[in-house]
Amino acid sequence: MKDHYSFISPIYNTLAKLVFGSQLKLSKTCFLEGLSAKKILIIGGGDGLDYKAFQKQLQGEYWELSQSMLSLAKSNLKDSRLSFHLGVYHFRPEIRFDEIWLHFVLDTLSDEEIDALLVFCKKSLNQNGRIYLADFFEAKTGYQRFVSLAMIQFFRIVTAHKREDIPNYEQIFQRNDLKKTSEKLFRKGWVKAQIWIPESF
Ligand SMILES: C[S@@+](CC[C@H](N)C(=O)[O-])C[C@H]1O[C@@H](n2cnc3c(N)ncnc32)[C@H](O)[C@@H]1O
Repeated sequence: MKDHYSFISPIYNTLAKLVFGSQLKLSKTCFLEGLSAKKILIIGGGDGLDYKAFQKQLQGEYWELSQSMLSLAKSNLKDSRLSFHLGVYHFRPEIRFDEIWLHFVLDTLSDEEIDALLVFCKKSLNQNGRIYLADFFEAKTGYQRFVSLAMIQFFRIVTAHKREDIPNYEQIFQRNDLKKTSEKLFRKGWVKAQIWIPESF
């Protein structure tokens, strides 16, 4: 499998901080609570650097499609109790999680791939489990629209990013019978952190 992030992985986090400061990290950490008691599934976590400060509280599974990102995550999160896996997360009925983190990963997938992943995610949740989404939403200002378009073009060239738009998360999550229970906005709502739970378990 080709590693589309091999070129960018060593500079990804620095680049993100240059453009967004601490906002993306904040969106990925604002809903953390009771971590030590939870089993967590992280899908597309990248280099894992933003989770480093609280890694000792992390247990569960970390899935990455990029070998270079996964190697960085293993090193950045070496004091965690996560197991690291290369490839696309696949559902195993005997393994359930209390929380699933989808942080800036769904915008790299087609709508159909998101639907398929959400089906797996829902089946993989424990009773009272939740999905923690953090991602880009529709740009709210002219400047944001410009940066958003530039980022999409950049990632299309560098990482073979498939999309030309931002997924309509609300619509996609709702059609998968998920209900939003919390939300925090960053950069006027260009970036959002949201908690979603299944309509029924
Ligand atoms: C835009 S980067 C974001 C990385 C990280 N979540 C962050 O916020 O810095 C998207 C990451 O998701 C990974 N990825 C994309 N599709 C994936 C999938 N189906 N399963 C696991 N990882 C995936 C990519 O390899 C890449 O590292």
